[in-house]
Amino acid sequence: MDAEKDIAAETAHAAMERAKFREMKEGTQEDWAKIGAEYMAFAKDLPDRILTHLKLLEGDFGGFPVCRLEHSLQTATRAHRDGRGEQYVVMALLHDIGDTLGTYNHPEVAASIIKPFVSDEIHWICQNHGAFQGYYYFHFLGMDKDIRERFRGHEHFDACAEFCEKYDQAAFDPDYESESLEFFEPMLRRVMARPINSMYVKAAEPEAA
Ligand SMILES: [Fe+2]
Ligand SMILES: [Fe+2]
Repeated sequence: MDAEKDIAAETAHAAMERAKFREMKEGTQEDWAKIGAEYMAFAKDLPDRILTHLKLLEGDFGGFPVCRLEHSLQTATRAHRDGRGEQYVVMALLHDIGDTLGTYNHPEVAASIIKPFVSDEIHWICQNHGAFQGYYYFHFLGMDKDIRERFRGHEHFDACAEFCEKYDQAAFDPDYESESLEFFEPMLRRVMARPINSMYVKAAEPEAA
């Protein structure tokens, strides 16, 4: 059976390309060459995984006037049309991507994803936007709308307040004409093409010519 042969050949090939250690302390240079090659390919596909995950937010309204994907697109579109740079716009696009798995801490999920690719300020905005966004609704839920005040005096306080005021809290308009996810795709790929801030940054650098 050809299909069975193909599967057997594929399995044998995959096994050949795998490291041999059972504990990491037994690892060899050869093992890590194999893992390193796989890592490079995997890292390159990060924007594709992000796009797939963003699509999970489509149709997820949670009671809001627009779904979470539209809110993300609208936040990014507003930032883009206001002349923000690509790192900022990509942060705006991804700022709520953690809603699916980070139900109780979604800003930190997005902040972790973008951290290797953006400035400290843009990372900080993303990480803390939840507290700043609360200024617009926490009081309706019996919470302190001024919880952001605990950050008053921080060098990025005003930038985070501005993100929420101009783009995030403003991005729930069902009649707004947002750009599509496809529009932001090239930007996402450019921003994520190379990490600027990661302990794995050396491993992700292209081989020297
Ligand atoms: Fe958020
Ligand atoms: Fe948001």
